[in-house]
Amino acid sequence: MTDSTKTATLTIDGQSFDLPVLSPTAGPDVIDIRKLYADAGVFTYDPGFTSTASCDSTITFIDGGKGELLHRGYPIDQLAEKSHYLEVCYLLLYGELPTAAALDKFEDTITRHTMIHEQMHNFFRGFRRDAHPMATMVGVVGAMSAFYHDSTDISDPHQREIASHRMIAKMPTIAAMAYKYSIGQPFVYPRNDLDYASNFLHMCFAVPAEEYQVDPILSRAMDRIFTLHADHEQNASTSTVRLASSSGANPFACVAAGIACLWGPAHGGANQACLEMLKEIGSVDRIPEFIARAKDKDDPFRLMGFGHRVYKNFDPRAKVMKQSADEVLDLLGIEDNPILQVAKELEKQALEDPYFAEKKLFPNVDFYSGIILEAMGFPTSMFTPIFALSRTVGWISQWKEQFSDPAHKIGRPRQLYLGETYRDYVDVENR
Ligand code: ACO
Repeated sequence: MTDSTKTATLTIDGQSFDLPVLSPTAGPDVIDIRKLYADAGVFTYDPGFTSTASCDSTITFIDGGKGELLHRGYPIDQLAEKSHYLEVCYLLLYGELPTAAALDKFEDTITRHTMIHEQMHNFFRGFRRDAHPMATMVGVVGAMSAFYHDSTDISDPHQREIASHRMIAKMPTIAAMAYKYSIGQPFVYPRNDLDYASNFLHMCFAVPAEEYQVDPILSRAMDRIFTLHADHEQNASTSTVRLASSSGANPFACVAAGIACLWGPAHGGANQACLEMLKEIGSVDRIPEFIARAKDKDDPFRLMGFGHRVYKNFDPRAKVMKQSADEVLDLLGIEDNPILQVAKELEKQALEDPYFAEKKLFPNVDFYSGIILEAMGFPTSMFTPIFALSRTVGWISQWKEQFSDPAHKIGRPRQLYLGETYRDYVDVENR
């Protein structure tokens, strides 16, 4: 990894320090500052980690300039078109596409772990009915460590494997139950004769009173949404999972931390925020007003579903999502959907606007996903839980990778302290 021909030299007060430069298989070189504090007695300052690699990884690569997203080397558009979610899960977890036999076995394992401990039903019932499903998910996933003690010993590779499978398998059940609970309907048990996406749709939309047939096109669109969100290298929630896990916390607790981080509107909550924004805009003639607000420095309003920390050209997932939106609305016979019209026109006008071009702001994956999910019948409150269940495999793969790194240590960032220096306590009567 180290390119011995390259070093970076840092000069502080006339003293020089040579820093090794690490060369990745793809992406920019990385200056290794691990010994900087020991050698030079200084820290680096990088709020938001905009220039800092927190780990090495072989799972996902993003070229933000080219708009490229690769999982284990395979581009996301090919995976979205030719593969399916559980195969992508296998790829992320184990590094290679599975043989037919390995895929069968993996699918069988996941399918047979989809039920949750019956006692967990009571746990759901402890929440208020009007709780946001994300709030319920953070709680229930955190509680999994209380129900699955036999897979919380992280030093045992077999237990780590079982915990991984359990989370991928049970997350759709937990998300669907959070939804059913919030609308006052009975929980629907998973069905082993259905594929992963169909099973999720069935658990969300079936009721005991009548037969529910999952439309294969909707199931395919659902699977594609899962696939497009499966992993995204060291984003905020994944870094949260890695940081939580660095202390040796159990995997269920770590993923609960990831879900909590994902909830924020700058991250996974953006698809909900985006659809709400499109509805607030309401009609094409109001778009200029909202574009003007997004550009106004004194207005905190931002175009939701626009911009990305890493993609500065286009988000390759957004293209596939836009195509899926067209397919799903077509299938459901939703012609002239006003929200889709607003979305398309907003995208067009923003892309033509120099403000967005100069700042390299493009639609991200969340711009169209909300439209698809709403057309399928999901309320906006379910958008982020669906993102969370899709991303679980990414969190777990990165968590697993962290354990295989013999050099991994507890995450402990430093700080640039700007507070008071030492001062003596002043008794209350003297203040
Ligand atoms: N609308 C208007 N202006 C924007 C937007 C936006 N959506 N996004 C960024 N900008 C502007 C900022 O005001 C800033 O302007 P300045 O340079 O004049 O100060 C400039 O573009 C850079 O923005 P930053 O916030 O510094 O960029 P950063 O990389 O930190 O933020 C983020 C990325 C958080 C995604 C941001 O673009 C955003 O808030 N977008 C809307 C929320 C969203 O869609 N999030 C989903 C991300 S994808 C995901 O999580 C799956």
